[in-house]
Amino acid sequence: MAYRWSGANKQPQMHLPQAKRAQLKLLYSLLAATLLVTQVHARPAADPLAPAGRWEGDTSGAASTPPMGWNSWNAFRTEVDEDKVMGAAKVLVDSGLAKLGYHYVILDDGWWIKRRAGDGRLQIRTGIFPSAATGGPDGTSFKPFTTRLHAMGLKAGLYTDVGRNACSQAHDLHSPNLPQGTTAEREVGLEGHVGQDIDLYFKQWGFDYLKVDACGLADFVPGSDVVKQQAYRAQAPLIERASINRTDSAAVRGRYEAVAAALQAARPDNDYVLSICAWGMANVRAWGKDVGNLWRTSADITPSWTSMLHNFDSAAKRALYAGPGHWNDPDILHIGHGAFDAAHPVEVRSHFSLWAMINAPLLVSYDLRNGPASLLDVLGNPDVVALNQDRGGHQGVVTYDSDDAQIIVKTLGDGGRKAVALFNRGAAPAEVTLLASHMKLSGSAPVTLRNLWSKESVKFTGEKAFTLAPHETLVFEATGKRQLENGVYLSEIPGAINVARDGVRQPQADPTVHRMIDPWASTRSGGARPQYAGWGGAQADVTPYGQTLQVAGQAFESGIGILSGSRIQVKNGAGHAQLLASVGVDDSTSNMQQPVRFSVYGDGRLLAESPALAYGSKAHRLKANIRGYQIIELVVRGSKSGDALPVVATWGDAQLLRAAGDRF
Ligand code: GLA
Repeated sequence: MAYRWSGANKQPQMHLPQAKRAQLKLLYSLLAATLLVTQVHARPAADPLAPAGRWEGDTSGAASTPPMGWNSWNAFRTEVDEDKVMGAAKVLVDSGLAKLGYHYVILDDGWWIKRRAGDGRLQIRTGIFPSAATGGPDGTSFKPFTTRLHAMGLKAGLYTDVGRNACSQAHDLHSPNLPQGTTAEREVGLEGHVGQDIDLYFKQWGFDYLKVDACGLADFVPGSDVVKQQAYRAQAPLIERASINRTDSAAVRGRYEAVAAALQAARPDNDYVLSICAWGMANVRAWGKDVGNLWRTSADITPSWTSMLHNFDSAAKRALYAGPGHWNDPDILHIGHGAFDAAHPVEVRSHFSLWAMINAPLLVSYDLRNGPASLLDVLGNPDVVALNQDRGGHQGVVTYDSDDAQIIVKTLGDGGRKAVALFNRGAAPAEVTLLASHMKLSGSAPVTLRNLWSKESVKFTGEKAFTLAPHETLVFEATGKRQLENGVYLSEIPGAINVARDGVRQPQADPTVHRMIDPWASTRSGGARPQYAGWGGAQADVTPYGQTLQVAGQAFESGIGILSGSRIQVKNGAGHAQLLASVGVDDSTSNMQQPVRFSVYGDGRLLAESPALAYGSKAHRLKANIRGYQIIELVVRGSKSGDALPVVATWGDAQLLRAAGDRF
């Protein structure tokens, strides 16, 4: 039965971190919260394109580089127990992986037995976690468990759900470890208990990381079989996986903001990680960065090649939405199983290399106690781990894209070095020619490539041909003469960019990532496609819809593609002196009627502005003296007409230069 949720669940939204912080502090006081709502409604709407003059990217939580560690789910599902988890922890330490950065040991679904009647305190299934049988008035406690992990130099992570019930309660009904008791006792999710549960997990039990799932908002639909047969309380769904229009993204975001607020209150030292597990739904690919430290961009990974490709694709074009403190999450690694077991070393290295290149969290999830040494060698490749953990936090950008092969380039450190991956998606060998220009290196100077798997080096000038085995990924560190010796293209430093507004007016599903139907469904399911909104979001080196940047026939290999009605922030950490860009309406725009204006601000002051530029006008050269300014903001204003489509706008060759000097 189709169910239409009522808009009554919508909550007032405040998107500015400053406002968010205010909201966080007030969350626990009903009176103050009421005042806040009054204030929000009383204040005239601020212009979202006005420069903020300060970094608005979310800085909460402890994820300056992508989290690394182990998660129990792909290894054991709900058949997890204390020996299995502690066994994994011991291997992390003994193998040296912990030293490399694999710190988080995350206990996924299956750990709870009930929410205690009376005081609502969560109780642990001591049959599988014996050390939690602490007795006394609390009944059970994970404190001994987290203390052991901490004593090993590790950090502890736990799973919950943002709704009343968790995913296993809808999808793993055969499980021996589902919560037990009355309907209320089986409501183990956060809904109605956010403050109480976060306090329990972080202040009392000592966890450091929380994965917050969302099945409680999606799968307990009134009248559904699962609700009737399991006697759950029905909930009008806020998420409909196959319909972004029928999903209440603002309400879902509000639920996660409340969790973020509680985490900040419980851990004011910022030492926590919030993992949002809404599987790419509810437009989370756009707002995840403002609320959590990582956010799933797609459905659950399965140990098949096509599933790995699908999950990779869901995150690979979202480089501008990630950076230090916030990461696209294409899901935990499925290394150790199926198409990625030890008998498939090529696929194992590809899966790992791709996750490393796009700054995905590196969360291993097989039974480490019984795994082969060859897999530990892959996970322990210090060079590949180092590129994932690079402090710059620049997600790799897909610089050559086809169904057969892709080239992904990632800026390391201050931009002087690059990592490049050549990826054969297909089942036949692929010829791939790497050009120096793919890496924004000079074509006339030698380039050195060091293979991070074989450790061999090769030199070339201009271009070099490779033959990739089926499913193979080659990963190199590249050094050469940079195209911009004196600066950097904005598209080379996505980790230094915060997309404050991307101009997307109506969330639309990304049509390039849709073919993987729910992995548990079959052809009988009708094939409802997942709807990963975010189509039209800002992109590095291509338009928001993935096309070549081009203004009045002039193509740009570098630049930022974005819609009108947008504002991006750039950290001028390296103290660049000048911003240059060739700006205009992109030739690919559907809205060819309306002109746009490009403006550059430094710490809130207008530094340069284009005239109104129409479709077909030649690119306008913008130059701004940014010396001494910390935060540069690039704004594209379009027509105020709400009906017209946004205009596709191009910041062609947008670059920051160290010394003033016109390079055109
Ligand atoms: C969902 C999540 C998975 C896992 C399971 C647990 O499917 O996406 O990662 O946490 O729930 O039930």
